[in-house]
Amino acid sequence: PRPILLTRHGESQDNVRGRIGGDSVLSEAGEIYSKKLTNFVEKRLKSEKKASIWTSTLQRTILTATPIVGFPKIQWRALDEINSGVCDGMGYDEIKRNMPEEYESRNKDKLRYRYPRGESYLDVIQRLEPVIIELERQRAPVVVISHQAVLRALYAYFADRPLKEIPSIEVPLHTIIEIQMGVAGVQEKRYKLMD
Ligand code: G3H
Repeated sequence: PRPILLTRHGESQDNVRGRIGGDSVLSEAGEIYSKKLTNFVEKRLKSEKKASIWTSTLQRTILTATPIVGFPKIQWRALDEINSGVCDGMGYDEIKRNMPEEYESRNKDKLRYRYPRGESYLDVIQRLEPVIIELERQRAPVVVISHQAVLRALYAYFADRPLKEIPSIEVPLHTIIEIQMGVAGVQEKRYKLMD
């Protein structure tokens, strides 16, 4: 059975600064993760000639995939992080301070809350449909390097988790979630490559 390996990009400079959205490059720790991920993928997928690496169109996922060679890479806009609209580039403390009503409505219903001029989790789930169809068609392993909100939705689909849980599923940095679909259902392993 073919595995699907899900991972967030290595830590970005915006992660370090506590800012959401943006298109920043990796931090030093993020660079180290990209190398560890490369070693892991090269070992795990050594004999898998048809495997592929899927990223978003944002720098932090493309840079995380950069050291991995020998597999085709595909960029999907549908794997880009949730669009936080007018809040792009802000920190949560800043949103709370400057836009308290927005902060409050998101807290009340994170699944349905749509950032002004941006997206909701439900929007993200909807735009992932073509990615899911393509993933299910694959015969070979796929490494998906994407973002927290997007991976919550993808993971929930494969692990059969209810919609309402999606915005709070834990998808830590620097960890690979391996999903295997077999006759006996879905099996999951997590590999934490760094603290
Ligand atoms: O930048 C966006 C975050 O990865 C999504 O996290 O939906 O828990 O605010 P959140």
